[in-house]
Amino acid sequence: MITVEKIHKSFGDLEVLKGVDMHISKGEVVGIVGASGAGKSTLLNIMGSLMQPSGGKIFINGTDIFSLSAKDLAAFRNREIGFVFQFHHLLPEFTALENVMMPALIGGAKWGSREVEERAKMLLEDLGVGERMQHKPMQMSGGEQQRVAIARALMNKPAVLLADEPSGNLDSRNKEELHNLFFTLREKYNQTIVIVTHEQELAAKCDRCIVMKDGMVL
Ligand SMILES: Nc1ncnc2c1ncn2[C@@H]1O[C@H](COP(=O)(O)OP(=O)(O)OP(=O)(O)O)[C@@H](O)[C@H]1O
Ligand SMILES: [Mg+2]
Repeated sequence: MITVEKIHKSFGDLEVLKGVDMHISKGEVVGIVGASGAGKSTLLNIMGSLMQPSGGKIFINGTDIFSLSAKDLAAFRNREIGFVFQFHHLLPEFTALENVMMPALIGGAKWGSREVEERAKMLLEDLGVGERMQHKPMQMSGGEQQRVAIARALMNKPAVLLADEPSGNLDSRNKEELHNLFFTLREKYNQTIVIVTHEQELAAKCDRCIVMKDGMVL
């Protein structure tokens, strides 16, 4: 599903990733752990094509993503990669439902499409925030906002869900609920998920953890 091949990344003189290789299979939930500054977020951003590597390749479902034109890469990213960050980045002016539909609309679906609305509603219900559909982000708790952000990330049925410290901003009860949700998503959709985390409990639940240190996989 995802192959990371000899990925290097430098910022000026600072070499942050020093030849990272990994392979992630369909339906795996993989944790990426390691000390602050190890290069975890940089790697995740490159895997999600948000950042160009200085060298190396990323294959997602067989596509060498950095060989695509800028336009094709943007379309590929919208279709195949779902992101969740520590802060949800929901659009404040739109309801939960509208936020979740947004990636489909950006991908060319028609505003008002029944199919898009039905899928967004189903995802919100699966994630336990069906009742909050018509609320704007400000009218929801942090845990609810994060669930909406995950629903949005899944809208276009991405090949992979990439999450960077998704529960970093939540209290312990919401944290645990959110962690369990990732495994529910895997059961239900066989969703491939890569999670960067500092949370021991979450790392322990993953199928496998990749430990990074100083820009390398240990
Ligand atoms: N845009 C940038 N310009 C220069 N240096 C950067 C940039 N982004 C990250 N770095 C540096 O790259 C290194 C790795 O950063 P990264 O954010 O990938 O670490 P991390 O493992 O995610 O850490 P944390 O657990 O604290 O989030 C750090 O030393 C950081 O200062
Ligand atoms: Mg980070």
